[in-house]
Amino acid sequence: MNTSNGRRQFIKAAGAAGLLSAGAGLPTLALAQTAKLKVGLMLPFTGTYASLGVAIANGFKLVVQEQGGKLAGRELEYITMDDESEPSKGADRANQLVNRDKVDLIVGTVHSGVQMGIVKIARESGVLNIIPNAGVEAATTQLCAPNIFRTSFANGQPAFPMGKHVADKGHKNVVTVAWKYGAGEESVAGFKDSYLKAGGKVSKELWVPFPNVEFQSILTEIASLKPDAVFVFFAGAGAAKFLKDYQAAGLKGKIPLYGTGFLTDGILESVGNAAEGIETTLHYGDGLNAPRNKAFQLAYAKTFKLQPDVYAVQGYDAGLLLLAGLKAVNGDMNRKKEMYAAMERAEIDSPRGKWKMSKGHNPVQDMFLRKVVGTENRVTGTVIKALDYPPAAACKMPV
Ligand code: PHB
Repeated sequence: MNTSNGRRQFIKAAGAAGLLSAGAGLPTLALAQTAKLKVGLMLPFTGTYASLGVAIANGFKLVVQEQGGKLAGRELEYITMDDESEPSKGADRANQLVNRDKVDLIVGTVHSGVQMGIVKIARESGVLNIIPNAGVEAATTQLCAPNIFRTSFANGQPAFPMGKHVADKGHKNVVTVAWKYGAGEESVAGFKDSYLKAGGKVSKELWVPFPNVEFQSILTEIASLKPDAVFVFFAGAGAAKFLKDYQAAGLKGKIPLYGTGFLTDGILESVGNAAEGIETTLHYGDGLNAPRNKAFQLAYAKTFKLQPDVYAVQGYDAGLLLLAGLKAVNGDMNRKKEMYAAMERAEIDSPRGKWKMSKGHNPVQDMFLRKVVGTENRVTGTVIKALDYPPAAACKMPV
């Protein structure tokens, strides 16, 4: 950009912001408020979590669209990075976004293992990271940081209410099945936390390497163990495959299956009746009958010709959170302290219901019980209100 061109664009931007007519004068308008905001979208766009990445990116972009293409006066430029849900590439790719592409923030990611790499780079560089899915608990407890915020959940959070529900149903012994990595492990731990306290017994924990979807031997083992119920953590394409295999193995209707809502979110169109009647717990349900949710679903479907799911909601809320922060500083991300303070006190008017951040920057939010009816996750009740889990007290926020 040559100087006169730069100056012309600058005048145009200043005029659009209404500052010239207000008599503020040219030199007072900082370039930091007029340049495009560089957003690194680090998400899985291939592999078993690909549809989750797409839904998150769509949800985020819907906020920008609803704001007329700008957030607090700033146009956005996206740098898209496929992380393939491959933990070994997490830190390198986050580092590329920060040091090569010079992004202003990273929105990402889905997989807890990859997230650990992003958290490392965010903590080292101070670049803002908004986590739109990955539930790795350390990110908002032991490794919490002023510049790391999550708009989704901590892994144990949606699993915790299910333990008590399964116990209340009278199921005395349960087998758990999950992918063997952070998300599966913390999900099973959250379930056990309330299930064991309620007097339940976990007779066996079965594990599958991520992203493996060969479930035959596991299903054979469940059939021979004959537990009262099964609790699982799978998501995305892997969840769809597990549900179909569970039905094909003749276990559906014989041994009740429970899980966090990731088991049945975003995949009901693709599994026939394999999920019918399954109960899950989650911080969202597409069947939520609130006007805010209905308006969101309509806008999302109109824009993307797709039905939104929990991942789309989390991406949308990442956009709302960023908007709240940018508004407080008139789009100037150099005013980090003020921006983060605004994000900390923001009440996010989400399709899931209004929520706020915990001290560790994880949503304090209501947990719903849902039941699959046709292609809907129907909400049948609120099982815990304003759940802060694991407790934010485990975060000692650096200053
Ligand atoms: C995770 O890896 O943290 C994760 C992935 C997919 C989900 C939930 C958690 O649906």
